[in-house]
Amino acid sequence: MNYNKLKITVEQAEKIAFELFNIKGEAFPLPGYIDFNFRIKVVNEDGYILKIYRPDENGKFLEFQQELLQFVEKNEANLLAPRVTLATNGETVSEIKDDFGNLRKVRLLTWIPGRMYYQVNPQSDKLRFGLGKQCGLLTKILLDFEHPEAHWDSEWDLVNSLWTKDHTQLFDQELETIIKYFQNNFEAQRSGYKKLRKSIVHNDANNYNMVVSESLDDPVVRAAIDYGDVIYTQIISDLAITCAYAIMDQIDPLATVLPLINGYNSSMAIQEIELPYLYHATAMRLVVSATSALINIKKEPENKYLISSLLPAQEALKRWYAVDEDFAHYSFREACGFSAHPNEEKFKIWATKNDFNLAELFPTVNKKEVHHLDLSVSSKWIGHQRDYNDLDLFQFKINKLKAQHPDSILAGGYLEPRSVYSSSEYDKIGNSGKESRTIHLGIDFWLPVQTPVKALFDGKVVIAVNDVGDKEYGGLIILKHLIEEIEFYTLYGHLSVASATNKRVGEHLKKGDCVGYLGNYPENGNWVSHLHFQIMLSLLDYKNDYPGVAYLNQLDVWKSICPNPNILFKCKELQAYKDVSNEELIAYRKQHLGKGLSLHYNIPIKMVRGSGQYLIDRYGRKYLDTVNNVAHVGHEHPAVVKAGQDQMALINTNSRYLHENINALAKELIETLPPELNVLHFVNSGSEANELAIRMVKSSTGQRDIIASEVGYHGNSNMCIDISSYKFDGKGRPGVPEYTHTFPLPDAFRGKYRGKNTGVQYAEEVQKQIKNIHAKNRGVGAFIIEPIISCGGQIELPKGFLAEAYIYVRAAGGLCISDEVQTGCGRMGKTFWGFQLHGVVPDIVTIGKPLGNGHPIAAVACTQEVANKFSQGTEYFNTFGGNPVSCAIGTEVLRTIKREKLQENAFKVGNFLKHELKNLALDFPIIGDVRGQGLFLGIELVDIKMNPLPEQTDYLANRMKDHSILMSTDGPDRNVLKIKPPIVFTMENALELIFYLRKIFAEDFMEK
Ligand SMILES: Cc1ncc(COP(=O)(O)O)c(C=O)c1O
Repeated sequence: MNYNKLKITVEQAEKIAFELFNIKGEAFPLPGYIDFNFRIKVVNEDGYILKIYRPDENGKFLEFQQELLQFVEKNEANLLAPRVTLATNGETVSEIKDDFGNLRKVRLLTWIPGRMYYQVNPQSDKLRFGLGKQCGLLTKILLDFEHPEAHWDSEWDLVNSLWTKDHTQLFDQELETIIKYFQNNFEAQRSGYKKLRKSIVHNDANNYNMVVSESLDDPVVRAAIDYGDVIYTQIISDLAITCAYAIMDQIDPLATVLPLINGYNSSMAIQEIELPYLYHATAMRLVVSATSALINIKKEPENKYLISSLLPAQEALKRWYAVDEDFAHYSFREACGFSAHPNEEKFKIWATKNDFNLAELFPTVNKKEVHHLDLSVSSKWIGHQRDYNDLDLFQFKINKLKAQHPDSILAGGYLEPRSVYSSSEYDKIGNSGKESRTIHLGIDFWLPVQTPVKALFDGKVVIAVNDVGDKEYGGLIILKHLIEEIEFYTLYGHLSVASATNKRVGEHLKKGDCVGYLGNYPENGNWVSHLHFQIMLSLLDYKNDYPGVAYLNQLDVWKSICPNPNILFKCKELQAYKDVSNEELIAYRKQHLGKGLSLHYNIPIKMVRGSGQYLIDRYGRKYLDTVNNVAHVGHEHPAVVKAGQDQMALINTNSRYLHENINALAKELIETLPPELNVLHFVNSGSEANELAIRMVKSSTGQRDIIASEVGYHGNSNMCIDISSYKFDGKGRPGVPEYTHTFPLPDAFRGKYRGKNTGVQYAEEVQKQIKNIHAKNRGVGAFIIEPIISCGGQIELPKGFLAEAYIYVRAAGGLCISDEVQTGCGRMGKTFWGFQLHGVVPDIVTIGKPLGNGHPIAAVACTQEVANKFSQGTEYFNTFGGNPVSCAIGTEVLRTIKREKLQENAFKVGNFLKHELKNLALDFPIIGDVRGQGLFLGIELVDIKMNPLPEQTDYLANRMKDHSILMSTDGPDRNVLKIKPPIVFTMENALELIFYLRKIFAEDFMEK
């Protein structure tokens, strides 16, 4: 019978719905393979789905599905499932005659509004938990349901999945190998699998069968539909199937399934004995899916649906294959509330009962005490990255510390987050971007080279290799032990090369036998001599290596596999690493620090280290920083740090003593400025710089009226707030002070005047304010503006505006101040200072943030004339301004910009980034404007009517943070993403930024 010839029209469907079910609605066809499905829309109701089956459909099976749905409806109020709509004659399954005279079964079910799981982007862990929870809940209800039709033989029943063995030749060689691997392992497990508990289960929670709510900010899984595969089978199969589909198109399959398993377990407790089967069962569903798709593609090569279901299944198989089976099992256990490693408790009980001492491990080291050495990412002892990469220096520091603690072994490190590993070699890409392996799983003992290490218990050598790479183990030996029926391993890393070459795999060692000798750099993986000692309850699939550091998101599992080695020694100095919690820090802040002090992000981050364009948090997680224009030449730039440290060690006093540092900094700055601006005053912050500039204005002009832009920000002091519309304007704020005169934000995109050539119009607005001042019988003091208005939303001043405005202001006797606190010092790329973009020379320039690269130093540059007039008033004294330490730092910042050609870099990378952002805007029309200069850029998000989109902007910044990229938002409507990174930002950084922006712009919320 060729079913495809027959069509059922929407009119026929509407008629069926009305005649059989008395439902009057509008029918819309839904895609179906052989059956006919129609959505029946009914005014003010969710409506229905009308299902019309092929003539030979098994009516009994349909009745079984109806009974199941009725059972669910009766038994669990919390679970949403399609509801059975009875025909007017009371039947659950009805019948019609089609145009060919065939009898066809018909059902009407309630429609569950929403979208399908596969359509949700992103599929968050919360959503995955909800998916698992919903599936688990359904199984839980069905535990009490029984039906003879549930006992049928299905090729989609995982326990039967070995039929796929006849078809492996359909795949390419890589996939064939993978599929055979899974089939063979599943076959080996099959007798145990058959014995697992059973129930009636849905058996097909694929991404097209799970309905998710329409909510874009907090989507939830609502219900499973399509009960055509329900079957009485192993419960774990149902979970495996859900996992198999959830990992499609996800980068990290293991991280994807864990919240799902956790959710499933929360409503339907999984048994410990079921979990060892989950990994291969999940794989087998992918094998079944890919195999049947391929078989059907052979029959119907044009069928796009089949092709589109094949590719993700094949990719998922490859990625699942790359997951270590045992590690997956331990992770599943952890997700279900069991100890990740099954032997964890047993091992701990044994180890706690038995005492070992360090003298047994190091018999030649005659020291009883331990001095804890903190090498964590926030350790001040390890200091600057430059220092800990200098092995001679590191050795020197170790020796000094040893000398200070002659009776102690220096040791520590269990669960320490280490920045030594935060180099990119230890990164991988997960579902949310880069992840770094940073958490140390062993204890390090810092002892002299050639110190012998002895076995603490009898054991067998299972790995003896030389791992020569940088920051690898060097000589590595792993012993296997079996004590009181507990199998475990001990790892000895950073041994000499000879230690490993002298050992044979399979060799037996007795307690007290020598395992090896400590190596030194470079042969031990390029470390200062020490032993990395680690315990493992499983070797996993490692043959020549074993991780000594773990990814943070897998830590709970690794902790269980690799217990603290100190469990043997019971030494109080060797406890697992612990850091102050966020909660503690926040509670103190709330109570004792300024109440207006805000924090970035819903879950605030504790940053402990900076490095170039990166910030590193307490866990060693590296964030690409596109926000911090203070760390201008890169966070903790070694030359700048050194300049500060060196001078700090000599003297720091006020500027009333002679010192060349202050002159040197002045010279460096003057070199960058127009010749007119050749007098400098040094202060400690941008606010102080602007405060001083306004004082200079008053003494120079005798006037106090200041003209400033709307949404401008110039600092936090009284005077600065008074000229900062960003602070005084707006609901509940004090409004414009008497002596301040604001003109409209010169925003050619969404401001008062829009488009090209608005410079003259905005300059006229400045002129209007001059007239206002004159109307009050007062004179103009100054006009202050940033060359690109940062808080205003990275607003580039329209062409010609500044030159024109300066003419008006000067004609009125006022001074012109350029606030370069954000824009200065080469960030603009094309020019060193922002005002230079506009071909003007201000009377006063204020300089702040970048000058100290994080150290509080700022400056005011002015003309001789302004300086002379100012000096005639009260003496200006500033305790800290211009001190030798600050000046050494400022000078080094300016020299670094020159030496490393960072202005040129800002130009090159900034132009590239702006170009790429403009390309992005072509794909995502909510990017209304891309603007800025050099590495001072902004993108403004608006809807089609030019309304601002602050929620999307905020969402974007938060999601980028989830992907380890820091971004900030600003502008009067908070709808501008600002990009102003340290100017060491590279092309690769720009590409990475664009890659993740593209990813997040495609997420559902952005279409809200
Ligand atoms: C343009 C501008 N001027 C002045 C300041 C004030 O600088 P500080 O915070 O160093 O006092 C800021 C600070 O954000 C600023 O952006």
